[in-house]
Amino acid sequence: RLLIIDFGSQVTQLIARRLRELKVYCEIHPFNRVNEAFLKDFAPKAVIFSGGPASVYAEGAPMPPAGVFDLGVPILGICYGQQVMMHCLGGHVEGGHGTAEFGRARVTPTDDRLPLLEGWFAEGPEQVWMSHGDHVSKIAPGFQVYGTSPNAPFAITADVSRNFYAVQFHPEVHHTPKGAKLYENFVRLAGFTGDWTMASYREDAIQKIRDQVGDRKVICALSGGVDSSVAAILIHEAIGEQLTCVFVDHGLMRLNEAEEVVTMFREAYNLPLIHADESDLFLGALDGVSDPEVKRKTIGRLFIEVFEKHAKAIGGADFLAQGTLYPDVIESVSFSGGPSVTIKSHHNVGGLPEKMGMKLVEPLRELFKDEVRALGRELGLPAKFIGRHPFPGPGLAIRCPGEITREKLEILRRADAVYIDQIRKHGLYDEIWQAFAAILPMRTVGVMGDGRTYDYAVGLRAVTSVDGMTADYYPFTHDFLGETATRIINEVKGVNRVFYDCTSKPPGTIELE
Ligand code: XMP
Repeated sequence: RLLIIDFGSQVTQLIARRLRELKVYCEIHPFNRVNEAFLKDFAPKAVIFSGGPASVYAEGAPMPPAGVFDLGVPILGICYGQQVMMHCLGGHVEGGHGTAEFGRARVTPTDDRLPLLEGWFAEGPEQVWMSHGDHVSKIAPGFQVYGTSPNAPFAITADVSRNFYAVQFHPEVHHTPKGAKLYENFVRLAGFTGDWTMASYREDAIQKIRDQVGDRKVICALSGGVDSSVAAILIHEAIGEQLTCVFVDHGLMRLNEAEEVVTMFREAYNLPLIHADESDLFLGALDGVSDPEVKRKTIGRLFIEVFEKHAKAIGGADFLAQGTLYPDVIESVSFSGGPSVTIKSHHNVGGLPEKMGMKLVEPLRELFKDEVRALGRELGLPAKFIGRHPFPGPGLAIRCPGEITREKLEILRRADAVYIDQIRKHGLYDEIWQAFAAILPMRTVGVMGDGRTYDYAVGLRAVTSVDGMTADYYPFTHDFLGETATRIINEVKGVNRVFYDCTSKPPGTIELE
């Protein structure tokens, strides 16, 4: 496996993405968590130094761990990674003086007989993405220059005898079009064969779960979302009946969703599953509540209570399974007020493990979202299930602004089902990050047939997004919107008006509450 030492670049995760695409298993660790003992234990087959915002001369500048240059494995330094490598090995780095370079640059080959550059300069100078204030002014003994750019005379350098490579630009970003090729060459010369597949991940993960859990019991809150589903199926494959899943049905699921999830996991996967139908409890507690935060907190609190109750009923468990993903656990290097480490740990079932004295089983901790989907396919989950849009924990409660009633929820379920059916029929489902209907807290007057109506209005939302942090509203055609509005009003009793939400995020959020 390959070790990426993080010096705090904004794009370190992209290095991992590029390597995973090459089917090479890698892990990112912050520079101040990697020491000689760690290196010995990790035994990397190759090391990459990421970029970073610091200057090698700054007080407390991040430095590579002792011993890393003596491992005898190939090392690739990127941007700050290059500078720090030169600094440590006897070269020189200079700052400022109008040599900063941000954005596109062209690198011209000075010698392209380097295995790292195979196929790189086939069409002459190559476009790369630069983002540096300092630059290397003298390369370390043993190094040679293979490419230059106007502001980075040492854009590509290498010491072939030691297998050390260092570049000033960022090959991991899309603005370096041939960047992936550079990583491909690096991992090939480091001896990786690109055999890290989901089938091998599945086998390793199963073994790890067995080693961790032994003959003890695991409980899992299954939401029907992709992450918790994939985690549950994998753990079930590893330890069978030692796993119990609890599906907390808060009465805020979409049309037929609870039955579909329960049937699928019980029948197709034979998972030991408790269907906790607690809709009366949740809807009772939400009666008369219209404040969004009170709704969320009420649901969160009851969820924990219900889950705990069912865990106790089966005699407790030693472990809680969660579908935590890699981006939630990568320790990021932060430079606010000097180098420090912020740990983002994500508890899907807030506070439960500590409260109940359970340890965590998180078999997806090393995976990115798309890799979880690939693992889901490997485990035989239906494509339609894997590609589902995200659905929030508080469910339809936050798509029903104002007070929640059973009548409104029923109207909302039906309108949402028609809307999603329309999107699927028009082949748009996979282009959209998330689409849903909301029931608005108002009634309006309409006319249907010869009669007056005074019914609810439905709001439709659809956005594109990469990660849910920012989003653009989806530009449906007028024909699509007109047809969908007509269908909803004709097919869903209680609705006489449909709005389309043209707000992006920011300033809107994706959900209405
Ligand atoms: P917002 O509305 O904040 O949503 O723009 C961003 C993404 O997060 C989802 N979301 C949630 N997911 N529990 C969840 O599991 C929640 O409480 C929650 N709130 C919002 C939302 O659906 C969107 O994908």
